[in-house]
Amino acid sequence: MRHRAVKGLLFSVILWALLSGTIGVMHAQGDEGRGLTIGFSQVGSESDWRTAFTEITRAEAERRGINLLFSNAENSQEAQIAAIRSFIEQQIDAIILAPVIETGWAQILQEAQTAGIPVVIIDRNVTADESLYLTRVSSDFVFEGRLAAAWLAQATSGSCKIVELEGTVGSSAARDRQIGFNEVIALFPEMQIIVSQTGDFRRPMGKAVMESILHTEDPSEICAVWSHNDDMAIGAIEAIKEAGLDPGNDILIVSVDAIPDIFKAMMDGDTNATVELNPYMDGPDFDAIVAHLNGEPIPKWIPVMGGIYFPDTAAEEYAIRVR
Ligand code: AHR
Repeated sequence: MRHRAVKGLLFSVILWALLSGTIGVMHAQGDEGRGLTIGFSQVGSESDWRTAFTEITRAEAERRGINLLFSNAENSQEAQIAAIRSFIEQQIDAIILAPVIETGWAQILQEAQTAGIPVVIIDRNVTADESLYLTRVSSDFVFEGRLAAAWLAQATSGSCKIVELEGTVGSSAARDRQIGFNEVIALFPEMQIIVSQTGDFRRPMGKAVMESILHTEDPSEICAVWSHNDDMAIGAIEAIKEAGLDPGNDILIVSVDAIPDIFKAMMDGDTNATVELNPYMDGPDFDAIVAHLNGEPIPKWIPVMGGIYFPDTAAEEYAIRVR
């Protein structure tokens, strides 16, 4: 009876998540942009997802004949601001910014606007006024958190003590995933986060943080790890194994990104679910820049959404993603 009630509630949660989030449609990728020079200020190379996103963007620019000036900020906002200033000095056609953190962008975005250079915000969000940039191409991180929590509520019948591995502090990806997840578990009185620590979206930090949590908490009390990305989850899986426990069974794991390695871990029975962060944002962002330069109106948000994946399709997904 109670199980049926939880399932009913879960269905409502998912419906609510689907209706209140925006379900995006992949933008058909065009091939316009030949001859444009576009600067891309990338966060860094902290995760496999980020590396794939960089490679996909570079390949798409090359395919279209776009001259992409690429700058890897290695997680430094100062380096990103310096790169954007250099792009402005070079009077290029447009700038793409994947911001490491949310705050502190108004001044440099104003400089780009004064120079007449459109800026597209990609992946993570900024708190600056939206009049300062052309558009934002991104997933809905709140929705991702809701989806992860809805799955966990179903898998545990709404009763679970959770370890949270947070992404980079100050990033919208970490903040919004946390908001979405917490909104859903708040509906289940027996679901609670017992400890939450940042692993900065990095695999070795996910491992180190989990090792320390397994020492400070009673491991038999931990029902699940909710990790803001797959890399930290993979680090946590290593730590859980080294502690003599069985990840995916003794401790459930749910994370975000859908990188090839997480499907490999699913095939090995070590993890339970991943919410996809679609790395194909390059087509919609190049298309938006070209359309804007042709005088067309552009919406302020272009969503790029993904699904949630489980072990039953892991082998198929792994084969598709590793070429
Ligand atoms: O901003 C998106 C997040 O950044 C990804 O989920 C994570 O892997 C990356 O580092």
